[in-house]
Amino acid sequence: MRGMSLSFPVQRTSHPRTAEQLAQILADPGFGEYFTDHMAVAVWTKDVGWHDDRIEPYGPFQMDPASAVLHYAQEIFEGMKAYRHADDSVWLFRPEANAARINTSADRMMLPRIDEADFLAAITQLVETDVRWVPGGGGEQSLYLRPFMFASEVFLGVRAAQQVTFSVIASPVGPYFTGGVQPVDIWVTDTYARAGVGGTGSAKCGGNYAASLIAQYEGYDHGCSQVLFIEAADKDRIEELGGMNVFLVTTDGRLITPALTGTILEGVTRGSILTVAAELGLKAEERRLSPDEFFGLIEDGTANEAFSCGTAAVLTPIGGFKTATAEYRLANPAGEQTLAIRNHILDIQYGRTADTHGWMRRVC
Ligand code: COI
Repeated sequence: MRGMSLSFPVQRTSHPRTAEQLAQILADPGFGEYFTDHMAVAVWTKDVGWHDDRIEPYGPFQMDPASAVLHYAQEIFEGMKAYRHADDSVWLFRPEANAARINTSADRMMLPRIDEADFLAAITQLVETDVRWVPGGGGEQSLYLRPFMFASEVFLGVRAAQQVTFSVIASPVGPYFTGGVQPVDIWVTDTYARAGVGGTGSAKCGGNYAASLIAQYEGYDHGCSQVLFIEAADKDRIEELGGMNVFLVTTDGRLITPALTGTILEGVTRGSILTVAAELGLKAEERRLSPDEFFGLIEDGTANEAFSCGTAAVLTPIGGFKTATAEYRLANPAGEQTLAIRNHILDIQYGRTADTHGWMRRVC
């Protein structure tokens, strides 16, 4: 079996949701609350490699309590979306970028690589099988895809698992933040860190998100929806939010975001925004940003817009940043540049403007 490519043959559920049930879900899907009728699964073992690939009815995994992931968190995931265009065709946005990143994450977490073609086969087979779940009708709805991989070996020794499960589940979604494009406030924690040099900050592993929760709750206590992390050891550079990257927009047309220093997740949306910046008349700057510079740019009015970005949240305007001792308000939250970038990215994803970068992949 080793070396064979995966085809994810489809085993259809005998109990698909009815058209009525589906319409009810799509009327108000929320985010990550409802899941489609099917899921993709494949298993890897050290001896055989990837095998046992299939699309099967959505349902619980049977997990042995000694499965390694439950103890040592050897797990990674991806986030991507399928979009329905006005002509009813269904598309993915830069899925090769997610395929590349899951392998970067796999390397860091000592999980097996999955070939890009196999990764894409799982995604496209699932989207085709559950295509009626891809929301239509304009708006900002899509089918959120969640590929993930975890140590399913039953073994309590601390070592790389010799059996791993890959899966993809899908969830129809609306905006990640319930307010949509309403600006959100961001809490700046100096109590907690997300990642350190040599750590797992640039891998998309569940542990990073678990570690961010306590800081996020600190933020909720201060009326904020997300938390901004500062580099752990020297506290000398701004990194990213709990689950998204961060950008400032200056009044003189610069688009500024922290450079990838190995402790930051390389967001697909982040990279896409940097690529389209020039088309929108903005100059992209990726560099180290100290907290003094970052907040100074806001305080002296140089930066008048800020936003967070990610696959789930697309681009969400930021109203202000709060620290334990200070507050920095953006002069023009949800401003013209933020909305122009947001609309441009969404227009590409929903096929309303030319895909000049060749980012869209048609599924069906
Ligand atoms: C995404 O943006 O897709 C993520 O994986 C982050 C999470 C906040 C949902």
